[in-house]
Amino acid sequence: MKVSIIGLGYVGITTAAGLSEIGHEVIGYDIDKDRVKLLQDGKSPIYEPGLDELLRKNISEKRLTFTTSPEKAITHGDIIFICTGTPSREDGSADLTQVEGAAKTVARYINGFKLIVEKSTVPVKTAQWIERTMKLYLKKHIDFEVASNPEFLKEGDAINDFLKPDRIVIGVNSKRAEKMLRRLYKPIRSPIVVTDINTAEIIKHASNAFLAMKISFINMISDLCEATGADIELVAKAMGMDKRIGKQFLRAGVGYGGSCFPKDVKALYWVGKQYGLNFELLKNVHEINESRIDVLMKHLKNALWNLKDKSIAIWGLSFKPNTDDIREAPSIKVIKRILREGGRVTLYDPKAMENMRKIFPEGEAVKYAKDKYEAVKDAEALVILTEWDEFKDADLDKVKNAMLTPIIVDGRNIYRPRKVKRLGFEYYPMGRPS
Ligand SMILES: NC(=O)c1ccc[n+]([C@@H]2O[C@H](COP(=O)([O-])OP(=O)(O)OC[C@H]3O[C@@H](n4cnc5c(N)ncnc54)[C@H](O)[C@@H]3O)[C@@H](O)[C@H]2O)c1
Repeated sequence: MKVSIIGLGYVGITTAAGLSEIGHEVIGYDIDKDRVKLLQDGKSPIYEPGLDELLRKNISEKRLTFTTSPEKAITHGDIIFICTGTPSREDGSADLTQVEGAAKTVARYINGFKLIVEKSTVPVKTAQWIERTMKLYLKKHIDFEVASNPEFLKEGDAINDFLKPDRIVIGVNSKRAEKMLRRLYKPIRSPIVVTDINTAEIIKHASNAFLAMKISFINMISDLCEATGADIELVAKAMGMDKRIGKQFLRAGVGYGGSCFPKDVKALYWVGKQYGLNFELLKNVHEINESRIDVLMKHLKNALWNLKDKSIAIWGLSFKPNTDDIREAPSIKVIKRILREGGRVTLYDPKAMENMRKIFPEGEAVKYAKDKYEAVKDAEALVILTEWDEFKDADLDKVKNAMLTPIIVDGRNIYRPRKVKRLGFEYYPMGRPS
């Protein structure tokens, strides 16, 4: 089938690569010309394991192209996916101007029937706004339909999630739209849930808010463990063994970040408010998450007393492992707090340093290390903020010898407390006896 993708971020690029991989003719379009140029050369502007290979393969097999021409993009596809961003406004509600922009582009260049599919995460009833925008800006009578097909991929494992999802959700208004989307996804052998459009939109928001709630819940219990000398890792392990609860997303730590959970929790809170519903639960989820930084900073100060002129190594800048994405990453808040108190940081991350340099350029108080061992040289504390495998496997003897004072503040609980203490470290995990 012929497919167009509007918006080439994490979701758009993965969707373009994934749909071409299963045999469709895909064209990707973005207003960011540099991004398109990179993609035309087969290079991904984001780090995602396996993505470069998939792009190159499908470009060379001529199923995948990228363009800066909106006309070329819109006229190509029978199905047009909107994959633009839906960031938070200052008040927490979803900013849908990119989605509106995409709809206007479709209205301007539409040349025949199109199924316009929102893949971006949007508040319920956004499809109605897309439809209204189309009608307002259409210059001639051309038939179109809007559908919802939310994306559930997780960064770091996006390709696998796209090609082997737990389920595919399709929100449609007609059999025609359902048939088109079923045909599109036929090569993917995952269950398909067909719903009306409002339901599909809510499924995505509710899924993300629920996962964020699980993380904040375990972090709330982590605070109780810390106050009473209990161990959150054992609490979470035993809780997770109950199949009704499940062990995933029960990791206590420095909290969730990224471009989805923080904004989607806030946006769904706003949706509830709009309908006069009590969604205060989500406000608490957000507030507990914000307070993780305070907990980590408390540990750091318990260890170092004052931060002024202290040298602190930070391992992990991306909001989670296997991605270079630093949007809403806890590291940004932690670095800001350390710098505000007069401390100096040496930063290391396997993939996210280039992005972080744009926020914290190298200078007197901010240094970037070429590897994890260089980062800890002469450091007075090591703060771990992302659970990359290479940190779990680090040679801790080497780390200890390089540091000025052997202190680890672990925001992700990646080590066994007894082991690190035996090696001679002072160890400050989250929600565990230290
Ligand atoms: N990142 C994830 O892990 C993830 C997972 C599932 C769902 N989502 C949702 O998918 C959506 C996209 O997320 P993302 O992380 O890929 O966003 P992103 O910000 O990385 O990418 C959005 C892209 O859209 C482009 N764009 C904006 N307006 C445009 C327009 N009018 N025409 C063409 N291009 C335009 C931007 O230049 C940018 O490249 C969001 O709603 C997000 O919540 C994201």
